[in-house]
Amino acid sequence: MDSADKIIVVVCMGSSCFSRGNSLTLKLLQDYIHENGIEDRVELKGSLCEDCCKCGPNITINGARYSEVSADACLQHLAEHLQSNGCREAGPLS
Ligand code: FES
Repeated sequence: MDSADKIIVVVCMGSSCFSRGNSLTLKLLQDYIHENGIEDRVELKGSLCEDCCKCGPNITINGARYSEVSADACLQHLAEHLQSNGCREAGPLS
């Protein structure tokens, strides 16, 4: 797979977002990617504070920012991006 086709997930790792949920979101994203064997389809990155702590926790998937996002909602957004990219490997959310 061309790296340009990868879904890029950026998790804000600033202290506010991290303590308000992104620490769990990061762990669940890592588990979801590993369990579904989609490491070649998803690139997980961290960012420094994105200067929008008030609306956090924040994540960005392929440039689309999701604010006040729970871990479950984050996985749902990722699954939707995978589905729209034609990825059949990703299993249903539990
Ligand atoms: S810590 Fe995430 S926007 Fe500031």
